[in-house]
Amino acid sequence: MAGLSDPSFLAVTEHFYKVSGIRLTESKRALVVSRLQRLALDSGIADLDRFVDVLVRGQLPKHVEVMLIDKLTTNETYFFREPAHFDDLTRRISQAQAVNREGMVVWSAASSSGEEAYSIAMLLADQLGNIPWRVYGTDLSTSVVETARQGLYSMERARNVPAPYLKKFCLRGEGAYEGQLLIERSLRQRVEFQCANLLHTLPKLPMFDVIFLRNVLIYFEGDAKVQIIRNVLTQLKPEGVLYTGHAESLSGLGLPLRAAAPAIYQHA
Ligand SMILES: C[S@@+](CC[C@H](N)C(=O)[O-])C[C@H]1O[C@@H](n2cnc3c(N)ncnc32)[C@H](O)[C@@H]1O
Repeated sequence: MAGLSDPSFLAVTEHFYKVSGIRLTESKRALVVSRLQRLALDSGIADLDRFVDVLVRGQLPKHVEVMLIDKLTTNETYFFREPAHFDDLTRRISQAQAVNREGMVVWSAASSSGEEAYSIAMLLADQLGNIPWRVYGTDLSTSVVETARQGLYSMERARNVPAPYLKKFCLRGEGAYEGQLLIERSLRQRVEFQCANLLHTLPKLPMFDVIFLRNVLIYFEGDAKVQIIRNVLTQLKPEGVLYTGHAESLSGLGLPLRAAAPAIYQHA
């Protein structure tokens, strides 16, 4: 199959930027080409430049365009990633700082395949006793949202799950499911996943006590980054807590936030 010309690379990255707000730089070129090649072949278009032309004209079937967005997003995640936030949440719960009578509602705002949302759910189920709680997970990519809803993971991915949580909240796969784990049903029922683009109008969501907005801001610059944070903050209760990835600084953006600790924010 012929390669991708410079104008087509620019056109496809510009299109992806418009849809997702994420800038794919030259360093992602090999990834873009390999992902496009697969989809172009599946669509019966042998020429990559022609495939890009059809894409940017909006002439690809919707499901192919959705698949392309899925393939170009970076979904890396794992259970109990950046444990300082889970320690902070445990501390706030034990000091009743984050808990009110109606219980706790937590949002994993770029939930990828669900590991973050289920880590939060395990912690809440363990720490809150009879106090009600719910976790919401949202992501741009439809395929990771589907994976998240299933709650089925390879056993290898569970290495950061504390042993008591593994025992209590995960079912070990047998037979055809050997080597996999399934998040226990009662936990899955309290975690709701849906698609949402954080740059656009959000779907109907409750107000949250805690929002995890981690390892997604790194893909955005300037206005888009500010827009995402402002959008997300509309869903944070006045006393709520916002966790961002430790590599993601919010300083100097003029946001109405105060840092309670590194990568932990509250309304100013
Ligand atoms: C690297 S993962 C982070 C997952 C998890 N929060 C963590 O820290 O492990 C980034 C996720 O952000 C999602 N994402 C990227 N742009 C987005 C947008 N505009 N709206 C919603 N989700 C987005 C991607 O699909 C991807 O699943």
